[in-house]
Amino acid sequence: MEESPEPRTGEQAGPPAAPVREPVVLTTERLVLRAPRESDIDAIDAACQDPEIQRWTVVPSPYRRSDAEYFVTDLARNGWRTGENLVWCVFERESGALVGTQGLALRAGRTDTAEIGWWAAKEFRGRGYTVEAATAVARYGLAELGLRRLEWLAYVGNDGSRAVASKVGFRFEGTLRAYAEQRGRFHDAWIASLLPGDLAD
Ligand SMILES: CC(C)(COP(=O)(O)OP(=O)(O)OC[C@H]1O[C@@H](n2cnc3c(N)ncnc32)[C@H](O)[C@@H]1OP(=O)(O)O)[C@@H](O)C(=O)NCCC(=O)NCCS
Repeated sequence: MEESPEPRTGEQAGPPAAPVREPVVLTTERLVLRAPRESDIDAIDAACQDPEIQRWTVVPSPYRRSDAEYFVTDLARNGWRTGENLVWCVFERESGALVGTQGLALRAGRTDTAEIGWWAAKEFRGRGYTVEAATAVARYGLAELGLRRLEWLAYVGNDGSRAVASKVGFRFEGTLRAYAEQRGRFHDAWIASLLPGDLAD
C-alpha cells in the first residue's frame, strides 16, 4: 500500500520540513564561497589540525582525514540535500586557497531560524575574511532564504568569534548556561542574533 503524502484527518502534520536546496555560490570582493568538494578534503584536514579550531568548535579532536571526508561527502552533501545544514568552503579569489568554512544550520523542525557557524584557517586570520564571508552568508540567510532570525552561539571566552559576530552586526543577547554540547561536554554559551532589519543596505 502506498503511503499517503497528506496527513490524514486528525493526525498532526509535524514540523515543516526544510526545502531541498541546490548548493549556492556566494561571491564577495575577495572571496568565493561554494559547497565543499572531495578535492577540498586535504585542505580541510590540514586546517582542522589547528588546536584553536578544535577548542572552539565541534570538530573531532584529534582530527583525522576521515573526519574531513565525512564533512564533505556526508555532512555537507546531505545538509544541502535536505536543506537543513548549508555548508560552504571559503576561498581566496586571487589564490584559490581555502581560507575557512561557513555554515547555516536550521533549527530543528523550523525553517525560519538558523545558527551561523564558521572557522578560519590560521594562516588566513586577521584579514577580515571571516567577517566578509559571514556577512555574505548572513545576508543570504535573511534576504534570500527569508529567515526571521539568525543566531550566533560560541562557548564563553571565544573573543575572536564574538568580535566577528559583532562586526557582522549581531546583537549580543546573553549567556546560556550549560547549553552548547561539544564532544559530550556542555559549555556555557554566548548568544547573539541578527534580524532582517539589522542588515545595512
Ligand atoms: C574566530 C575566527 C573565526 C576569526 O577569524 P578571522 O578571519 O581572524 O576574523 P577576521 O579577520 O574577519 O576578524 C574580524 C575582527 O575580529 C577581531 N578578532 C579576531 N580574532 C580575535 C581575537 N582572538 N580576539 C579579539 N578580536 C579578534 C579582528 O581583530 C577583527 O577586528 P578588526 O577588524 O577591528 O581588527 C578564527 O580565529 C577562528 O577560526 N578561530 C577558531 C575557530 C572558532 O572559534 N570558530 C568560531 C566558533 S563559534
